[in-house]
Amino acid sequence: MAKEAKIIIEGKEYTYPVIEGTEGEKAIDIRTFRKDSGYITYDEGYGNTGSCQSEISFINGEEGILRHRGYAIEDLAENSDFIEVAYLVIYGELPTVSERETFSQKIRNNAMIHMSMNHLFEGVPNDAPPMAILSSMLNSLGCYYKEYATNNPQHDLEHFDDAVAITMSKVRTIAAMTYRMSNGLPFIYPKMGLRYVENFLHMMFSNPYNEYSHEPEVAKALNVLLLLHADHEQNCSTSTVRMVASSGANLFPSVASAVCALWGPLHGGANMAVIQMLESIAASGDDGSQFIEDAKSGRHGKRLMGFGHRVYRNYDPRAKILGKYCDKLLEAIGIDDQLLTIARNLEQAALKDDYFVERKLYPNVDFYSGIIMRAIGIPLSMFTVMFAIGRMPGWIANWREVASNDKGRIYRPRQIYQGPTAPRKFLQMADRPEK
Ligand code: ACO
Repeated sequence: MAKEAKIIIEGKEYTYPVIEGTEGEKAIDIRTFRKDSGYITYDEGYGNTGSCQSEISFINGEEGILRHRGYAIEDLAENSDFIEVAYLVIYGELPTVSERETFSQKIRNNAMIHMSMNHLFEGVPNDAPPMAILSSMLNSLGCYYKEYATNNPQHDLEHFDDAVAITMSKVRTIAAMTYRMSNGLPFIYPKMGLRYVENFLHMMFSNPYNEYSHEPEVAKALNVLLLLHADHEQNCSTSTVRMVASSGANLFPSVASAVCALWGPLHGGANMAVIQMLESIAASGDDGSQFIEDAKSGRHGKRLMGFGHRVYRNYDPRAKILGKYCDKLLEAIGIDDQLLTIARNLEQAALKDDYFVERKLYPNVDFYSGIIMRAIGIPLSMFTVMFAIGRMPGWIANWREVASNDKGRIYRPRQIYQGPTAPRKFLQMADRPEK
């Protein structure tokens, strides 16, 4: 028998169907609830609200599971790379040889930015926040590629492959240019023959007189770091993409808005906070044990950054993978990072400590990502930009789901109004008493 849910209000009973996801998640379909009863549901922060049905990613926070299009994140990290995972997330299937080649070639062909975008960089102060630059530049793509940015979803979907290549490729170029600009360095053009991650490293760290070279473990670690961020269900920035896209907006402003949502410390900014915490522990001469005590008591507002997650009540599977690549990378490039030692001490101490065990607080993806970026030479100010490059496939895939849904409605939550009641008498300014 099909499951259903009953809601009784003021003696009247309303019946609603239950929707079941392919992995067994259950939801009560209350789409007609307000029309039926005059009530709405209240769920600040949307912790219990399914805002969409999606085929992209699956998370089981209790068991620490993350899958993209049905593939386990562990399998993808071991056997794939960022561009292949991006294709999977965006198009739903792993690419064949020729699909991969076409996809990569399109991305390579779009690696340059329009010459006149250089003027936009010239107009920005050198110390501007990289995330502000990134969101502005991504939004400005709509000025240069108007044919893919018509705000007619059907038309924009016909040019989807082009818009994908532009966005995926230029986010990397814009990020590298932002870094160069903030350091007063000349821009380095992309090189046709290089793969995605290698080209990014080239644009970041080469000089006109000195080509950047690196151990293979550097590219592998960065590939893994990016692919681990590729998508993560309906998080704050991805929900923002869907919100903007639901109005019919094209891909460029939708992903630019997502960058703004990612900027905050409770979302993409946490990776910086982990390094700042480790640096402050190192500077104080603590091996981590005093900090653990402070984080448990909440002294000085301290929390163990990189620990805990709204959805995972188990080890974040991405943290497990990154921890391994962190060790491999540091060993390959011969870096003995004191911060990694402190991080390992914190991890071991917290995993044995009743406070963290009882609250199911485990390391999250940010716990090791900062150490990897630091080892590669990416400065703290660019950490959240790196997260944005990694999350781009997920944002694009979610934009596409919304744009393709011709029965979709504009996202428009309700609210419970708690402001002043009754029409208030309007007073002319001269009659308003000073406070
Ligand atoms: N250190 C110490 N105590 C913690 C931590 C932590 N990192 N995280 C949660 N707790 C405690 C809380 O104080 C609370 O204790 P109480 O029950 O005694 O009051 C309990 O654990 C539950 O915590 P909540 O705040 O309810 O957990 P919530 O799900 O709201 O928060 C969050 C999740 C924001 C990630 C939180 O764990 C945190 O602040 N972690 C540190 C910041 C961080 O690493 N953020 C990155 C998240 S991953 C990402 O965005 C990619």
